[in-house]
Amino acid sequence: MCGIVGYLGQKNSKEILLGGLKELEYRGYDSAGIAVLQDGKFESFKAIGKLINLEEKTKNFVTDKFSIGIGHTRWATHGKPTELNAHPHIGSESYVVHNGIIENYAALKTELLKDGITFLSQTDTEVIVHQFEKNLKITKSSFEAFKKTISQLEGAYAILLVTKGKEKTIFFAKNGSPMLVGVNAENEKYFASSDTPLIGHCTDVNYFEDGDYGYVTPDELAIFSKDGKKQEPKFTKLSTNKLSAQKDGFRFFMEKEIYEQVDVIADTLLGRLHDNEVLFDELDPTLFEGINEIKLCACGTSYHSALTATYLFERYSKIKTSIEVASEFRYRSPIMSKDTLFVVISQSGETADTLETLKMAKAAGLKTLVICNVDNSSMVRLADACILTRAGVEKGVASTKAFATQVTVFWMLSLYLAKKNKALSNEEIARQITLLREVPASVKVSDDMHERIKRLSKRYLHGHGFFFIGRDVFYPLALEGALKLKEISYLHAEGYPSGEMKHGPIALADPELFTIALLPQHLLYDKAKSNVEELSARDSTICAISAVEFDKADDFIAINKCKDYMLEFFEMMVAVQVLSLEISVRLGNDVDMPRNLAKSVTVE
Ligand code: F6R
Repeated sequence: MCGIVGYLGQKNSKEILLGGLKELEYRGYDSAGIAVLQDGKFESFKAIGKLINLEEKTKNFVTDKFSIGIGHTRWATHGKPTELNAHPHIGSESYVVHNGIIENYAALKTELLKDGITFLSQTDTEVIVHQFEKNLKITKSSFEAFKKTISQLEGAYAILLVTKGKEKTIFFAKNGSPMLVGVNAENEKYFASSDTPLIGHCTDVNYFEDGDYGYVTPDELAIFSKDGKKQEPKFTKLSTNKLSAQKDGFRFFMEKEIYEQVDVIADTLLGRLHDNEVLFDELDPTLFEGINEIKLCACGTSYHSALTATYLFERYSKIKTSIEVASEFRYRSPIMSKDTLFVVISQSGETADTLETLKMAKAAGLKTLVICNVDNSSMVRLADACILTRAGVEKGVASTKAFATQVTVFWMLSLYLAKKNKALSNEEIARQITLLREVPASVKVSDDMHERIKRLSKRYLHGHGFFFIGRDVFYPLALEGALKLKEISYLHAEGYPSGEMKHGPIALADPELFTIALLPQHLLYDKAKSNVEELSARDSTICAISAVEFDKADDFIAINKCKDYMLEFFEMMVAVQVLSLEISVRLGNDVDMPRNLAKSVTVE
């Protein structure tokens, strides 16, 4: 996801900003830029692609005296990865960099356009700098103008802003997106969206709280909280280990990514939920004209999220939906009709089999849509339309947050289509939108749950196999739980529909067969419970995951009580992810780089 850096001091600011951005490269980006104010003059440079392109552009730019500067690596969300859309964004005499999403940017932009402001980019960020300059004309004080601007923004942000009249000041604000400031004995100030760029430069750092805003000068670090009260900085010592800083203190990237789901799902939802409708600005409404059927195609984890979508699309959107594993679809001479919307799902956007099916659908003249995490990837460039999942870079080979954000997009898309097809009442759509807003909270990993799973994982290290079982959308979740476990524990695991066990697999049941039973309270509870009882009666070892106590289980992982089965889905998703992680840790495996696997499968 996007990265932010800022610097105020005597040293070579160009090198410091570029060095800082390099430290954020691991988060992924598609363009980058810097703006430096030195000797009363701004210089700004932007480049798409890797940082080397920005380095090339800045090679003759010298920063050898006091200056202030801001920099950014962008992961496209609003608008394509182009130079114009790259940050910093310019007003007439100010520059801004921003992480997050300004939800009310469209309303602000409409007003600014009426004032005759010209916009250069398609981003939400650009409104910030123009709104600041508009406010500056009225308030005549840059701090007051900045403060007012922040109060007018809705959404998530980490912002740095510099302006010509204030050559020794960087303004900052944070709400929902991470940012910290570092200081040292040389009166320098460093900003970044995570620790790594500051390591080696600063001794003490202050992590901003949501709602904080303020400014820095060589002699001052002024922080104000949401209610306008001035705060003392809360300095902590900075870690010196870069790899552990990249992992935010977690043992593995996979663990960090499981915990991060709270934030990335919030990003997935941002700007897309309204009172009783879901909006995807990126979709042309004509995309669904003449469409009577949806065909989903993907591999691995993405296939599992898509399988979840088949239930949601038919249940909520009342549209016929089918799904195929991409590697099968490619070679079985499928019949493709033009009233079918062909949807591919991919974290990377590069998976060879999925990409090939997209090409086949295009060649057959079908309309195509990709649900993807990486903008500008091959699939995004090829498909007619794209919805980005906004999960940020996923480093753990075993996919977690990509799956979570894909399912979130599918739930939203099912409501978007339900509205279009008048398949659900406005009240029901509004009710489900309220539930969607609760998804980030439902994926929060509680210390209790993590500790409990860590303890019980020791009982699940041997035996002759695992069955993850569930019904309806909990069947794809069972498949995903089993895939996670086999990828990183190397133990044999299968996902199965609960009701199918008696048609064969139940023959395997004995105490060494571990059944991980997904028992949602709000969907087919009694049916699923009977299936688990059948296994329990045959002495299979049962670990039930549910909000309802289940006395036939040997082990029980309690999830929070939820209002709806979809929230139970997300709660259980976290439980199965953490269970796989802890079993793998106990077995001493390389959690982030499991044997035989690659993150992006670009070969057949
Ligand atoms: C599992 C996993 C793989 C991928 C699959 C498709 O944890 O990561 O199963 O889901 O290779 O990859 P994408 O989604 O990039 O097309």
